[in-house]
Amino acid sequence: MIILGVNETSHDASVSLIKDGQILFAGHAERYSKQKNDWYVNDSLIKDALQYGEPDYIAYYEKPALKASRLLLKGGAGDWKPRFDLPGVKRKSFSHHQSHAAAGYYTSPFKDAVVVVLDAIGEYNTSTVWVGEDDKLKLKFKQNYPVSFGLFYSAFTDLLGLMPNQEEYIMMGMAAYGDWKRYYKEVDEYFPNYHTQKYNFHKGIHDWGMPITEQDKFDIAAAVQVVYTTRLMEFMSMAQTITGKKNLVFMGGCALNSSANTSLWKLFNMIWIMPNPGDAGSSLGAAAALYGKHINWTTPYLGYDLGGNYPTQEILSALKKDKIAAVATGRAEYGPRALGNRSILADPRDPDIKDKVNMIKQRELFRPFAPIVLEEFASEWFDMSFTSPYMQYTVRCLQPEKIPSVVHADGTSRVQTVNRDQHPGLHMLLRKWYWDTGCPVLLNTSLNIKGQPLLNDESDILLWEQTYNTRIIR
Ligand SMILES: [Fe+2]
Repeated sequence: MIILGVNETSHDASVSLIKDGQILFAGHAERYSKQKNDWYVNDSLIKDALQYGEPDYIAYYEKPALKASRLLLKGGAGDWKPRFDLPGVKRKSFSHHQSHAAAGYYTSPFKDAVVVVLDAIGEYNTSTVWVGEDDKLKLKFKQNYPVSFGLFYSAFTDLLGLMPNQEEYIMMGMAAYGDWKRYYKEVDEYFPNYHTQKYNFHKGIHDWGMPITEQDKFDIAAAVQVVYTTRLMEFMSMAQTITGKKNLVFMGGCALNSSANTSLWKLFNMIWIMPNPGDAGSSLGAAAALYGKHINWTTPYLGYDLGGNYPTQEILSALKKDKIAAVATGRAEYGPRALGNRSILADPRDPDIKDKVNMIKQRELFRPFAPIVLEEFASEWFDMSFTSPYMQYTVRCLQPEKIPSVVHADGTSRVQTVNRDQHPGLHMLLRKWYWDTGCPVLLNTSLNIKGQPLLNDESDILLWEQTYNTRIIR
């Protein structure tokens, strides 16, 4: 049975195609339309997906009637009904949070787990706790709008002059420069109260009432991160208590907060966060919910296929000559992070390389860059006893003086660990880099300009090369 999962009723439209539990394709609309956070699928994306098979079913993300009633009664962004259809193909819709939960649980290595979904808002749900046992998902706890972890975080993103629902990761990066104690009390008062359902945003976060200086922004960001992490741990403890589970599946946009995610290892034995935990990952979630069984997750490289073998030697030569190499090859990553196939790689030992890459990407100069490290060396270079193949955890760097360009102001790094099974080409590149330099780490950042989608296809590569007069290795 072939199932096409479709998400186009909230930001980050995407489609996924699965056949008998194998993922054939998963891609983001924005990478084809070149419109960041595109809400709708497009012909190029659909054509790319359907070359892998003709679907027997379409599984849609979100329940249209429920979403319509929410938009009518409570307002909010998004559409209530998907536009895409295939005549003659059977269809079924799955709720926002059920799709998130299914995307996580059915791709996870666990038969037995607690599944926590935290985001801004689904149709009405904002926080849900599920038990996954023997391929069955059962809802154990739900909290509805307006009490929401995601809306709390997005409201402060907005307050700091950033784009809510898009630039939360920038506020997370700003937190390292701030004094969290300065605004902790005020920020904490804005946190939704799960017991009384009181939600102080109605008082109006925009009535903050104080002029906000540049340093205030960093201090507020730091306080938001501490409040969020503290409350997240409380919520996760509750989820563990009511389910008795030691394995965690964490999904929803909140699972992209890599700084807070690290704390979860204090509570759980094993953790799975699907590499695309936000709404873009829910086309796969809707398809998985319809399939109703575990699907075979082997790789996040599931999108547009540029073909070719991984150009290890060329990248290595460029790194030695210029200290920077842009690479686009193979299938595009499904998820917000570039994990080696649409990446800019650079020498992390050079303290000036961070500014050079920031200039290329037109990013704020305070923004950190992430390291990729050979899995076998991860615990020597970073304070971690777990793997992080999808760049989902921020940990303390143990040798910051040796790799200054991938260490944030607070001494941490958002690490991607690499082993041979996960990406043989990238693993070989890191091995050779280590043999030549004694350093098993490279800087890895997404191949895109600030605010624009990751490069996807041949036309994007040409445009980049003409615009910046630099070559992309492919
Ligand atoms: Fe969501």
